[in-house]
Amino acid sequence: MERKVIVFDTSLRDGEQVPGAKLNINEKLEIAYQLKNLNVDIIEAGFPASSAGDFKAVETIAKKIGDKVSIAALARAVKGDIDAVYNSIKYAERPLMHIVLGASDIHVGQKLKKSREEILAQGVEAVKYAKTLLPQVQYSTEDASRADFEYLWSTIEAVVKAGATMINVPDTVGYAVPEEFGEMIKKLNYRLKNLNSSVILSVHCHNDTGLATANTLAAIKNGADKVECTINGIGERAGNASLEEVVMGLKLRKDYYDAYTSIVTPEIKKTSQLVSYLMGLEVQVNKAIVGENAFSHSSGIHQDGILKSRDAYEVIHPEDVGVDSMELVLTARSGRHALKNALEKVGFGKFSEEEFEKINTSFLELADLKKEVYDYDLYYIVEKSVGNEKFNDILETKNMLYELVDLQVVSNSIFPSASVKLKRGNEVFKSSSVGNGAVDALYAAIKDIVNMDIQLDEYKITSVSKGKEALGKVRIQVSYNGKEYTARAVDTDVIKASALAFISSVNNIIIDNANSKL
Ligand code: KIV
Ligand code: ZN
Repeated sequence: MERKVIVFDTSLRDGEQVPGAKLNINEKLEIAYQLKNLNVDIIEAGFPASSAGDFKAVETIAKKIGDKVSIAALARAVKGDIDAVYNSIKYAERPLMHIVLGASDIHVGQKLKKSREEILAQGVEAVKYAKTLLPQVQYSTEDASRADFEYLWSTIEAVVKAGATMINVPDTVGYAVPEEFGEMIKKLNYRLKNLNSSVILSVHCHNDTGLATANTLAAIKNGADKVECTINGIGERAGNASLEEVVMGLKLRKDYYDAYTSIVTPEIKKTSQLVSYLMGLEVQVNKAIVGENAFSHSSGIHQDGILKSRDAYEVIHPEDVGVDSMELVLTARSGRHALKNALEKVGFGKFSEEEFEKINTSFLELADLKKEVYDYDLYYIVEKSVGNEKFNDILETKNMLYELVDLQVVSNSIFPSASVKLKRGNEVFKSSSVGNGAVDALYAAIKDIVNMDIQLDEYKITSVSKGKEALGKVRIQVSYNGKEYTARAVDTDVIKASALAFISSVNNIIIDNANSKL
């Protein structure tokens, strides 16, 4: 009989650990909503003990989204972390505590500097404590693929007896190979189901040698009930098993795996684009399932074959994963109906009339400038016109945030200078400054207004979407009081985008500071 495989998405936890991919609370919430549309079974929303901002984001996701979908968050096997997870996810209908502790000798002896017995006892204590707070507790045996098998099993046996309801076996460093990993899962599953048949066996694979998807699928073939993965395969170092690859691999070869997931696969492409846009992580063009070229056929032989029969070269149809064969190109004359259609197609759909009017106005402005508006531009239009208001009810800090009113920049080699006007609530501020270049002058003027000693560490401009008038995206990384913040902004004018990105980083710092004081 076909088995259902539980899909646990960790894009907002392992995925967010990618350098420069840190999201603000609104962005996390936006992705969480889309993961819910995708119908993942469990969303790992973050690591609440890591920062006040992450705690707040997990708590908000649990409150706003945790009705049908289960919400998990990560804790090390210590009381403080477990309390932070409990206090942030308790609002969800089905909260899941996720505890991690090393299992390999390298982790036990060298990282944690303890004996195997001490670590096993710490894991058992952590699970017992977590069970006093929540019924569902997952225990991850970190670096399991490099652990001594019998020690790994004695850990699993002990934590299950202490009450763990899910056992996660991570290939933390991407060391596993499919046949061997499959064998290990088979042995563990056999012992585990004999010990307690209701305990779920899960895997979490990293992609250091490009085998994360293969290892995950091998684990499913050998009995794993649950898989941990991320959208676009993002995550630590080379990333995690990619959700879209695992899900579509299973769907394509149902005959072989005898298993299925509940993922609504036509939502895959939208989710991929949203994660890529908000995290600023480009998807490689030839990436399986979601890459730009994943469904294009370029050679003459292939094109001829596909015209005769799609099955000749297409085992997955683009529409199965939400890739329309033709991207709609909108112009100022496309009209409201076409805009509504296009918005729905890229994943937006639930706008009030008032919101739609604002979106339409921004669309017409952009269409006048760019002439052709592509799918990717729509994210920018929505964010610009209604994005900031969408989740504003969650921001207690909204009156403390800055907005750009106007700017003027003089760019020359002798005396680059900038003047800016910002607004915060009803207050208006102005400042002018000089700098080493136009952007430097602009940032000096903003810093003068906000009175914060923010250091710019990284500045990157890329073009977004297609067409000769493509939008410019500015992504920056700044540091303030020893912490790093990232921010991005998109505009047809890259100087304006530079200012907006910097103001956004200022606002991220303000929100983070306000959360730390809660
Ligand atoms: O890679 C890993 O081991 C992890 C654990 C927290 C599951 O991310
Ligand atoms: Zn991981």
